[in-house]
Amino acid sequence: MPGGASRDQPVGCRVPKERRVDRKRDRSIAREDHFLASQWRVNGWGGAGVEEEGEGQPLAALDELARRAESEVKRRLARELHDSVAQILTAMVVDMENFKHDHAERESVVRKVDDLQDSTREVLNNLRQLLYELREEPSHDHSFVHKVRSLLSSFEGSTGIRSKLSVSARWPAMLSAAMAYNLYRIVEEALSNVRLHSGAESVDVKLGSADSVVVLTVHDDGRGLVRAGSSRRPGMGMVGMEERAVLLGGRLVVSSDASRGGTVVTATVPVR
Ligand SMILES: Nc1ncnc2c1ncn2[C@@H]1O[C@H](COP(=O)(O)OP(=O)(O)O)[C@@H](O)[C@H]1O
Ligand SMILES: [Mg+2]
Repeated sequence: MPGGASRDQPVGCRVPKERRVDRKRDRSIAREDHFLASQWRVNGWGGAGVEEEGEGQPLAALDELARRAESEVKRRLARELHDSVAQILTAMVVDMENFKHDHAERESVVRKVDDLQDSTREVLNNLRQLLYELREEPSHDHSFVHKVRSLLSSFEGSTGIRSKLSVSARWPAMLSAAMAYNLYRIVEEALSNVRLHSGAESVDVKLGSADSVVVLTVHDDGRGLVRAGSSRRPGMGMVGMEERAVLLGGRLVVSSDASRGGTVVTATVPVR
């Protein structure tokens, strides 16, 4: 195959069998939802235990004790729901994606599984909403752009690779916490690959928006992906990025840029 043609092949749009992850790993991505709170929390308390109080304490102090006890019960319930339900639903969405790839030639089956994935994501979204309420944490994130800007600035500082962020005027002012978290992790992994593998001098991160999707691209000017068929080491980074996009109902493509050179990671995710 001529070099140009194979370099254009998206490599991240399908998870080859040998690179598939087991359920344990699926769940480790799901488990991260549990840490959204500590990563992204902008208010709420840190789950301190109920302090002992002496006798004759004022009513307000008793109220406070009751409030904290109630909070603790809700947080415990959220933890249980997360571990026993959310993780399994997350693994199911990823399993269904793999199933679709295995039966790609059967259009009606793929369409049916698409529907099942949509319903599972919907249940997962509703459950997440409930978990945020139980944990008394915000379910939306207003500072995604700010966080990506800080990430890029420290990336440039530590690697010397010129880093630019462009944000479309249509980029949503706020994202669901799950979307913000997973997109941020995709940017982190893509940047880590730029640092480790690209030999690039610069990287452009673009946050774009079209119709009802957001499009995130990370484009470096490095050596590009090595050609298909060579001994490129399969890594979990690409698989993880793709899983995150799939969890959000979107897709991720990694390709070499034949005209400008370098590698482009593109995540396209519907805004709900
Ligand atoms: N920006 C990039 N430029 C060049 N090669 C890349 C880039 N990103 C990924 N690759 C190639 O794809 C491989 C797989 O990446 P990944 O799945 O993240 O695993 P890892 O980073 O652990 O090697 C890398 O080892 C590298 O060969
Ligand atoms: Mg990597």
